Amino acid sequence: MAGDSVGFRAPRGTTDVLPPESSLRDALVRSALDSFGRAGYEPVETPAFEHTELFQRGVGEASEVVSKQMYTWADGGGRSLTLRPEGTAPVVRAVLEHGLERGPLPVKLSYAESMWRRERPQKGRYRQFFQVGIEAIGSGRPELDAEVIEIGTRFLAAAGVAPGLSLNSIGHDSESCRRGYLALLKKFLEEIAGSLAPDDRARVATNPLRTFDSKEPQTSAALAAAPLITDHLCDDCRAHFVSVQRLLTDLSVDFTLEPRLVRGLDYYTRTAFEWFAGGLGSQNAVGGGGRYDGLSEALGGPSLPGIGFALGLDRIIMARAEPAEEPPGRVAVYLVALGDDARREALMLATALRVAGVGADLDFAARSMKGQMKDAARSGARWAVILGSEELRAREATVRDLRSGEQQRVPFAELTARLAA
Ligand code: HAM
Repeated sequence: MAGDSVGFRAPRGTTDVLPPESSLRDALVRSALDSFGRAGYEPVETPAFEHTELFQRGVGEASEVVSKQMYTWADGGGRSLTLRPEGTAPVVRAVLEHGLERGPLPVKLSYAESMWRRERPQKGRYRQFFQVGIEAIGSGRPELDAEVIEIGTRFLAAAGVAPGLSLNSIGHDSESCRRGYLALLKKFLEEIAGSLAPDDRARVATNPLRTFDSKEPQTSAALAAAPLITDHLCDDCRAHFVSVQRLLTDLSVDFTLEPRLVRGLDYYTRTAFEWFAGGLGSQNAVGGGGRYDGLSEALGGPSLPGIGFALGLDRIIMARAEPAEEPPGRVAVYLVALGDDARREALMLATALRVAGVGADLDFAARSMKGQMKDAARSGARWAVILGSEELRAREATVRDLRSGEQQRVPFAELTARLAA
């Protein structure tokens, strides 16, 4: 069996991305960053690891991501470091560290990076996974919420995923808004604690909102009569939420109001949303995001509202409809050469083609003519450029169109110009 003789395997929950999927991923990442770029979001890169405290303060110690899923190690000198489990807290940290908030606002950034969470691996859930996302920092306007959600929705559609969009507002952290609601919810949960699944009972005290995230049917049933955050928003949060809904409708973005949608990270305020796709089993969220108006302050910065999303690339690839067209070949030209002199010529011609911007590959195994023609077909190239002893003498190549089978002789000197056309 393939791989039987290999002593090492990739760690559980990680994947090797191999061709041809690697090209598909690469194309998706580029098109994501391009489409985000067209709305003014510029790429940012932050380190793969950060001080652990960033996530404790930013994402929240009560969240599962921080309490259970981080890859953390002591780096000596009393420093605790953690592999980034998500991108928002690092991006806000970078904005504050470099004073970007002193420039024009909002600061609009995009990223395409690996994240790490020690979760139980299953279909669509890995310990190293890849996200593309955007963050818009420095404006609390509802138009920004609508822009961000529209950008994600449109990209997912272009990527071949037709997700549902769930939308909610979880208010902001004050007595007149979420804190008041949480007190009500806690009281309700304590009254029905006996009907909750045992694991969920423990969350009532630490993170009552998260009980809505439970996948236990027993808990979902018990929560049917729970008070809902959207009935307890303060006037400002309610007005903001209404505006966001109106703007999304104006932008023809379909959404479903989901008052039980709570996100797994504690920095969210007001708008929270998630995109869901079919065919993924229980890990059906292809992306999610929301506002995080208090995150900058939680990290010691000024008041700086923000909103963003991240999409899980691994899940997008699983959820997308099969591409209608064959993916383009790796190279446009495959050089078939017989004999050492022809191989030397083939290497020079391939290099000249590449310099001229034409993808070219050739045989490195000294295979037979038949074998090389098979390799040419497998490479997805449009043209096979054949060099035998006769061609070498005439300083002409036989160029075969691998689609139509037609072939003609072309002088070496004209080859690049002809194939680049
Ligand atoms: P999140 O909902 O934790 O949000 O992750 C966003 C997406 O990343 C998920 O919807 C899913 O597609 C993918 N994802 C998460 N965990 C895994 C995993 N273990 N394996 C595979 N895919 C996974 C955030 O990370 C926020 N930082 C999003 C955000 C940006 N909020 C505001 N700005």
